[in-house]
Amino acid sequence: MTNQRNTSGKQLSSSSWLTDHHVAKEKLRKSFAKKLTVLEPTSIVDIGCGTGLWLTILNDVFPKNCKFIGVDSDKSSLETAEQISQSWGRECEWIQLDINTHPEKIPVADMALIFNFSSYVDDLDMLLSYISKERGFKQLALRQFAGHEIKFGPFENDDQTAIDLSLKDAIGNSEQIRYYDMDRLIQAAATTNRQVLFKEFELFQDFSPFKSNTWPYIKGTAEWTAEKMPANQKKLITDWLSKAAEENDSLYFYSLDWTALLF
Ligand SMILES: C[S@@+](CC[C@H](N)C(=O)[O-])C[C@H]1O[C@@H](n2cnc3c(N)ncnc32)[C@H](O)[C@@H]1O
Repeated sequence: MTNQRNTSGKQLSSSSWLTDHHVAKEKLRKSFAKKLTVLEPTSIVDIGCGTGLWLTILNDVFPKNCKFIGVDSDKSSLETAEQISQSWGRECEWIQLDINTHPEKIPVADMALIFNFSSYVDDLDMLLSYISKERGFKQLALRQFAGHEIKFGPFENDDQTAIDLSLKDAIGNSEQIRYYDMDRLIQAAATTNRQVLFKEFELFQDFSPFKSNTWPYIKGTAEWTAEKMPANQKKLITDWLSKAAEENDSLYFYSLDWTALLF
């Protein structure tokens, strides 16, 4: 276990991490995907598409004449996505692009997706200005995890607070990933001249004994957190993981994602 990096070194972006996360939240993601169909886009660009997991879900709910475009800086993720999309029976394009250096090269599509990608964007206002309505991006779908609302426990109050503070100390000022980025995205979205079709918080929750589809994501998140901790809090999390593996039935895990559809 490291920082769950993909082959080009981006944190929390490895193929296995994205898949574990995706499988755990698949039911929630499917219901969110259906909500995106209402404005009937004929083309969609997924910015920071990773291995194409979101477009895989959208493939089941959008008509086949809707073109899908995936953009990412990681070649290996795009190759995986391209391979998966062979069976979709729709026009797809996969483009390798560093969004921070060339936002102007994002292909125009009716709907743009920014899903757990904000954390990697240097200048969000600039990115949003390149994917504006004026430039032809009619709709904007946003999702961002709330870094400060990924919780597992129970722990003593002071221990839970110490874990939160240690994580903030370890990663709060990272220049590679803005872990606590939800508010920045919400603020940047509010300054666009778009209307809000919906905005919602999406709650992911599970209780022990954790289900086989959620456990890899929960375990991965707890291990990733433990790696960032000093010895005391690392031990608390390691003990928590052992209890979870023993199917102790008093444990919980939850996380929140902010979601929105703008037009
Ligand atoms: C956490 S993953 C999210 C993947 C997908 N959107 C999802 O929600 O499953 C972030 C993705 O952004 C990509 N990425 C990070 N920085 C980038 C950049 N500057 N330009 C393009 N893609 C970038 C990474 O390679 C990775 O695939």
